[in-house]
Amino acid sequence: MECNEYRIVKYAEAGVSFEAFRDALGRLGAYLPYSLEEMQVDLDAYARKLVAHACVDICLSPEGRIVGIQAYYANDMETRKAYATFFSLDPECRGTGIAKVMMQSLVDTAKAKGMSVMEGKVARNNARAQALYEKFGFAVTSEASAEKVIMSRRLD
Ligand SMILES: CC(C)(COP(=O)(O)OP(=O)(O)OC[C@H]1O[C@@H](n2cnc3c(N)ncnc32)[C@H](O)[C@@H]1OP(=O)(O)O)[C@@H](O)C(=O)NCCC(=O)NCCS
Repeated sequence: MECNEYRIVKYAEAGVSFEAFRDALGRLGAYLPYSLEEMQVDLDAYARKLVAHACVDICLSPEGRIVGIQAYYANDMETRKAYATFFSLDPECRGTGIAKVMMQSLVDTAKAKGMSVMEGKVARNNARAQALYEKFGFAVTSEASAEKVIMSRRLD
């Protein structure tokens, strides 16, 4: 998929090294309201877990730089519940339509994998992310913690 000469591709098709992915994950993870560093996430282990088990969509700039990452699990065939775990774009890519193309990929991929529900945790103070999820049919369905809510939508 393309958006303003930016390409949105699956990790396996992106042709990027694991190290480039891990470094971009760390850089983009710093933009989260509760950054990966602040949450004391082991970046290498998290990156390995994502490439091994999650669906990972990457946004590449025209020069081939990783400027966005979205990751979600869509592999629990018992509950058929998918879980969005990571989404972040470099600041220059926000408000460009890239986020919407990536969200559509998440919904389409999770449906294609037979998932019936998708959910994710969103910070209460992250109005922008909440607005994006709402545009794609997500609504707040429960409280996750003092800082975060769970937003979800049906896929079937
Ligand atoms: C969350 C993120 C991926 C969304 O991408 P984006 O390109 O900024 O999203 P959009 O510009 O499409 O904004 C989505 C909608 O939010 C709304 N919006 C934009 N800015 C807003 C703001 N400051 N406050 C409230 N709503 C806002 C608009 O309705 C917009 O849609 P529209 O302009 O088409 O009407 C991106 O902002 C980001 O990487 N943020 C940092 C990391 C992060 O917070 N990740 C989310 C973790 S759950």
